[in-house]
Amino acid sequence: MNVTEAIETRHSCRHFSKEHIADEAVKKIIDAARLAPSAHNRQNWAFLILEGERKDRLVSIMRSLFDEDISSLPSFCRTSRVSASVIASSSHTVLCLRKKDDMWKTEDLLSCGAAIENMILTATGMGIGSLWIRDTFWTEEKIIEEFHLDGYELVSAIAFGWPAGEHRPVKKKSLEEIIL
Ligand SMILES: Cc1cc2nc3c(=O)[nH]c(=O)nc-3n(C[C@H](O)[C@H](O)[C@H](O)COP(=O)(O)O)c2cc1C
Repeated sequence: MNVTEAIETRHSCRHFSKEHIADEAVKKIIDAARLAPSAHNRQNWAFLILEGERKDRLVSIMRSLFDEDISSLPSFCRTSRVSASVIASSSHTVLCLRKKDDMWKTEDLLSCGAAIENMILTATGMGIGSLWIRDTFWTEEKIIEEFHLDGYELVSAIAFGWPAGEHRPVKKKSLEEIIL
């Protein structure tokens, strides 16, 4: 699959089969992150691969949000429940982290976005489904503590698995709408 085909066929996958992805395939996906462009070539990113029991711990933390009083949080935090279930059904979920550094925050976050997109497109090329997840934000402190990630900011989680079932394509804006 060439890059254009990967871009055109990539979509957020929220239904995975129970079949596991080989660890080597996950490493290949993270290797694509390694090659991404980064501001000032800082490569200020790190990845934690979660599967099995460690992945279950992430799911429990995300679900624990709903044991608390969330009335002061924006209502869209409720999608965390779906995101946690997608992680639960994934083969592997990868945390993308960046070492905290206030001076370079925007540049590092943009660079992490490039790294994540590289991972997702590589996965697409391998027939692997993925979901980019930011809902980890609501329980970030607990996640950082659980996995001993002091000094890091949790940028996103990315769930990977073999796609199951059909997906409903989402509406995209036309070129006319986005070119000023
Ligand atoms: C920065 C970012 C954060 C996202 N966070 C979540 C999330 O927490 N949960 C979720 O289900 N989808 C999440 N998504 C996926 C978007 O909902 C999805 O990309 C969008 O609806 C467009 O659909 P598509 O990916 O199939 O084109 C996220 C996407 C991005 C780029």
